[in-house]
Amino acid sequence: MPSAIQIHAFGGPEQMQFVEVEVGEPGPGEIRIRHHASGLNFIDVYQRTGLYANALPLNLGMEGAGVVEAVGAGVSHLAVGDRAAYASNPPGSYSEVRVMPAKNVVRLPDAIDFDTAAGMMLKGLTAQYLLKKTLPVEGLQPGDHVLFHAAAGGVGLIACQWAKALGLQLIGTAGSAAKCALALEHGAAHAIDYGREDFVARVKEITGGRGVKVVYDSVGKDTFDGSLNCLRPFGLLASFGNASGPVPPFAPGMLGPKGSLYITRQTLFTHIATREATQAMTDELFEVVGSGAVKIRIDQRYQLADAAQAHQDLEARKTTGSTVFVI
Ligand SMILES: NC(=O)c1ccc[n+]([C@@H]2O[C@H](COP(=O)([O-])OP(=O)(O)OC[C@H]3O[C@@H](n4cnc5c(N)ncnc54)[C@H](OP(=O)(O)O)[C@@H]3O)[C@@H](O)[C@H]2O)c1
Repeated sequence: MPSAIQIHAFGGPEQMQFVEVEVGEPGPGEIRIRHHASGLNFIDVYQRTGLYANALPLNLGMEGAGVVEAVGAGVSHLAVGDRAAYASNPPGSYSEVRVMPAKNVVRLPDAIDFDTAAGMMLKGLTAQYLLKKTLPVEGLQPGDHVLFHAAAGGVGLIACQWAKALGLQLIGTAGSAAKCALALEHGAAHAIDYGREDFVARVKEITGGRGVKVVYDSVGKDTFDGSLNCLRPFGLLASFGNASGPVPPFAPGMLGPKGSLYITRQTLFTHIATREATQAMTDELFEVVGSGAVKIRIDQRYQLADAAQAHQDLEARKTTGSTVFVI
């Protein structure tokens, strides 16, 4: 029987079990895919701990790439034998083979290998919607400053490169000098080691006291207050993650005196709610990767059986760029 990583209780990495699972035939609107690679994402940690609710037992993993093995009724955009990749609900990509909804699965261009695809679908589509669709009221123009936290991470290194391709001046934060160097190497205009430096003061210095139009904040609890203080009037805080913990409740009234600020909390799954939207966003991702404007950097590879170690390393801030399970 094929293997998968499953949890039976929420908690730490020790809850992750390498188990054998039964995989059946795809129903209407579904496919069966045999994975060649699967992606590691911070959302997998939230799902493992129970911060994001799912029913138990739960097969983990939201991003994968492989070959379509069977196609259910009503699926016309995929055929048996297609190379394919996805970022998709429900979880279950930490597995050799699975049945899943076809809606968010796309055909993979020959030029993109399975590891690259598994390292970029969820993270790259996220960078796409943040930089192209999550915009301040005045929009973003080439030359504008934006602040992007955790810039040396999986989403971060893609965003650095894509922002540069769009002509934006991305100021990246990261947790060490080496990670800052990596962000700069990948197109960040400035990098701030937020473990050692006051990132609000540095952003003010870099922007001549004006602040940035947008802060893209996936760190959450630890950076929320500072992020608001980096914005110029009418600026936008785009909150999209909780690596340090969820943002505590706040009073909207405080946004007025800080400059009539906007806050949004975004999730990829709203953006890829339809097959058409998924394909359109993926086409843009394939284009920037195909042109070489965005390179997918895979800095860690693990066997599926070592998924608990991969989670430990991600949570301990030991990883950079993308991480994949080689299957
Ligand atoms: N809402 C969405 O649609 C969406 C989609 C994809 C990803 N995300 C979010 O985007 C973020 C990046 O995802 P990713 O998978 O690419 O992960 P990642 O950036 O590769 O890893 C998370 C990074 O967050 C930073 N961090 C800051 N404080 C931390 C803490 N207390 N514990 C652990 N890490 C901390 C670390 O970088 P430094 O050491 O440099 O600080 C760490 O490497 C995550 O928060 C994820 O949930 C959201």
